[in-house]
Amino acid sequence: VTLPPGLALRPVRLDDVEAIAAYHHQCWLQGYAGLVPQEVLDALVVEDRIQLWREHLASGAGRTAVVAADDRPIAHVGVELDTIESVYVDPAWWGQRIGPVLLAEGERLLQEDGVTDGVLWTVVGNDRAVKVYEAAGWALDGTVEVHDHPLGFNLTEQRMVKRLR
Ligand SMILES: CC(C)(COP(=O)(O)OP(=O)(O)OC[C@H]1O[C@@H](n2cnc3c(N)ncnc32)[C@H](O)[C@@H]1OP(=O)(O)O)[C@@H](O)C(=O)NCCC(=O)NCCS
Repeated sequence: VTLPPGLALRPVRLDDVEAIAAYHHQCWLQGYAGLVPQEVLDALVVEDRIQLWREHLASGAGRTAVVAADDRPIAHVGVELDTIESVYVDPAWWGQRIGPVLLAEGERLLQEDGVTDGVLWTVVGNDRAVKVYEAAGWALDGTVEVHDHPLGFNLTEQRMVKRLR
């Protein structure tokens, strides 16, 4: 899996938060319409997401890599403990196989941390994401849980797993 020309993978920086929050917000509006209650989507505010990203990066928890175009992030992957916590591509860049590159980078980061059994969670009904993950060797394991999102609502998510060694 390789990136389209002109794009580069690099670790996240503190000054990326505005750019990340902007497309992350659009990912939710466009990627989660019909999956997450519309009133939740309508209530999302990009400033809250900027703040959440500031806090997340300041906490030092986990690791995040971004795909940048001219050094500006257009996609990211985040890992924490044994889990790929987030895989998001700016909707303007969907369909160019950036998702599979992010996933491979997430797996590499987990392996670097010594993780042998990777975990990720996707919103139930997110078939677009499930298809990308299954193509990379991830499998639904039948577990469904309701998770609290830090922005103040619940998400019903299904677990996927992959052996990484
Ligand atoms: C899931 C996601 C990461 C995939 O990234 P990507 O780089 O677009 O991945 P791909 O290029 O392999 O495309 C995956 C599928 O998206 C669909 N797709 C492609 N372009 C699209 C577009 N413009 N609009 C809607 N769907 C599109 C296609 O079904 C495609 O599969 P196909 O090419 O085999 O038909 C990305 O869609 C995304 O960020 N979605 C919103 C956030 C999300 O769901 N993240 C996962 C959270 S667990």
